[in-house]
Amino acid sequence: MKTLWGKPVAEAVYLQLEEESARFIKSTNHVPHLAVVLVGSDPASSSYVEMKEKACDRLGFDHATYRFDESVSEATLLSLLSKLNDDPVVDGILVQLPLPDHLDTTKILDTISPQKDVDGFHPINVGNLLLGNPSLVPCTPLGILKMLEYYEIETSGKHVVVVGRSHIVGKPIAALLFQKGWDATVTICHSKTQNLRDITSLADILIVAIGKPLFITPDYVKEGAVIIDVGINRVEDAGRSRGYRLVGDVDYERVAPKTTAITPVPGGVGVMTVAMLMNNTLQAAKKGRNEAEILA
Ligand SMILES: NC(=O)c1ccc[n+]([C@@H]2O[C@H](COP(=O)([O-])OP(=O)(O)OC[C@H]3O[C@@H](n4cnc5c(N)ncnc54)[C@H](OP(=O)(O)O)[C@@H]3O)[C@@H](O)[C@H]2O)c1
Repeated sequence: MKTLWGKPVAEAVYLQLEEESARFIKSTNHVPHLAVVLVGSDPASSSYVEMKEKACDRLGFDHATYRFDESVSEATLLSLLSKLNDDPVVDGILVQLPLPDHLDTTKILDTISPQKDVDGFHPINVGNLLLGNPSLVPCTPLGILKMLEYYEIETSGKHVVVVGRSHIVGKPIAALLFQKGWDATVTICHSKTQNLRDITSLADILIVAIGKPLFITPDYVKEGAVIIDVGINRVEDAGRSRGYRLVGDVDYERVAPKTTAITPVPGGVGVMTVAMLMNNTLQAAKKGRNEAEILA
């Protein structure tokens, strides 16, 4: 059994991005710029934004975080997004989720220009992804693809079962893996799936993104399967100074011996997401500059 750590994969991505962005900055005189919108003071959201800022700093990208009180109006956010869309200095825009209930998340995300939509959530990017056209791809699924590539896990002709159908993980990873090039046969499961265990037990590669701590036990897993655990869940742990520990959706300790390879939590897929956001920011910057040159 092999543990699929995210760190070496993320480091390889960062090294490549460092080279690529140095070449880009030299040839265009433009520094990639990420704009982040953060509403409220949720500690998890604030810490994700901090990680994104640090990653920009590491690569020498410019960044600006627009912070708003929980009570901010939708009109204020829409007006900011439209300014950022029109600002040629800004290459990537992301709105940190979740947003408070009074805000229409779909309307806000759909306002971001598809060319600057570094989270890959805009319907145009989602449509292009499904069609197999070049697009900005959501960061977590893109990170999973990088991990599969790095660890040379064959997907062609394999049966991939994805548990979870969120816009952020389940749907896009399923839609990516059945594209030409990846060539997997994909089954998607969700909370209404009947006989889930029978289906997951058929998976050569099982990808789990449900947000249920330690849900997948050995009886859900085929002998020799590869497991990608996307879940990040806090469970109470009085033994830790912070009072909790992080676990995945898969019961790693019990499931790992049955697998060929498995991602740990923490330290697996989670490590990849910010690296792929940086990748998307650079790709958006490159595409933006090409288009600016064509128009000039
Ligand atoms: N950077 C990262 O590594 C990263 C990024 C994103 C998310 N995550 C983590 O991944 C997990 C999932 O997040 P998400 O945003 O994708 O999830 P989400 O939006 O909460 O959706 C959960 C999905 O799981 C399905 N589900 C829930 N219980 C199930 C069950 N018992 N059996 C089968 N399917 C079930 C739901 O089905 P229905 O559609 O029928 O409700 C839904 O499709 C969370 O732990 C989250 O923290 C990690």
